[in-house]
Amino acid sequence: MAILEVEHLSKSFGRTEVLSDITFSLEKGQVLSIIGSSGSGKTTLLRSLNFLERPDGGIIRVNGDTLFDAEDPTTVQESEIRRKRLHFGLVFQSFNLFPQYTALGNVMLAKELLAKEQPDYKQRKKEIHSEIEAEARNLLEQMGLGDRMNNYPHQLSGGQCQRVAIARALALKPDILCFDEPTSALDPELTGEVLKVIKGLADQETTMVIVTHEMAFARDVGTGYSGAGVRASLGGEDKTVPVPFYKWLTQENTAEGMLIFPLPYIIIKSAESAQKAVRTLKKDRQEGIERRSELHE
Ligand SMILES: Nc1ncnc2c1ncn2[C@@H]1O[C@H](COP(=O)(O)OP(=O)(O)O)[C@@H](O)[C@H]1O
Ligand SMILES: [Mg+2]
Repeated sequence: MAILEVEHLSKSFGRTEVLSDITFSLEKGQVLSIIGSSGSGKTTLLRSLNFLERPDGGIIRVNGDTLFDAEDPTTVQESEIRRKRLHFGLVFQSFNLFPQYTALGNVMLAKELLAKEQPDYKQRKKEIHSEIEAEARNLLEQMGLGDRMNNYPHQLSGGQCQRVAIARALALKPDILCFDEPTSALDPELTGEVLKVIKGLADQETTMVIVTHEMAFARDVGTGYSGAGVRASLGGEDKTVPVPFYKWLTQENTAEGMLIFPLPYIIIKSAESAQKAVRTLKKDRQEGIERRSELHE
């Protein structure tokens, strides 16, 4: 069974249709890479999955449980949203760490707030706190930040901040971890360390949705079912186009609509963004190959 199913998702801001009939699914452990030009709706898709935006239409299911169905008013109530959000983790482009907390404090905060809602919190306070702290320390170690736990965000590099943000998202054990251009705000020399951490998570079969401009990375980290091909959802009509990822991009495919690639999955919204993607790919290819060897060293 798919861990995540998104069906016919749509979202408009005023008269601008940003998401139109988005359909895809992810199995546990799969990684969905999404590329697309600026303004094509990538962030809106991630925000919709994390219930920071309410879609106008469509269904979001996690582990077969319908978390959102625009047609079913019982699933769109605000009261349940906090619980539903826990299925997803989101790592932002600009880290969004709390400046007044240390790395450790940032990773522990949400768990501590949640723990306060447990009925036995008062009696087990100390025990719960040390459990949360031990887990947070573990995660920061895993992110290579063992010696940075007590530093505040302003004492950390961008790459370190982003790794704290990843640990913070992992602390809540989300079913699906989402990244919104996790390396866009980083200097090139810091990009590699963050991509390496994400690659490590992919190797541990963390289910992830990654919006990225790093074309080679998108291809490397994205997983799919066997056999290259494109499952395109064009205005609701599903069709499979048997073209591998690179070939499709280099052919300067100009198909209109939203494309979801299985190898890796890739969403490109319009002819214009497809062409931009091709240009970025060509420009990034040399760089991308260098970055990949960094990742594999
Ligand atoms: N809250 C909002 N209100 C109005 N328009 C928005 C809002 N959020 C995003 N948009 C518009 O939706 C489009 C898609 O934005 P976004 O999802 O951020 O794209 P991307 O992440 O692919 O760059 C853009 O045209 C943007 O201006
Ligand atoms: Mg964006």
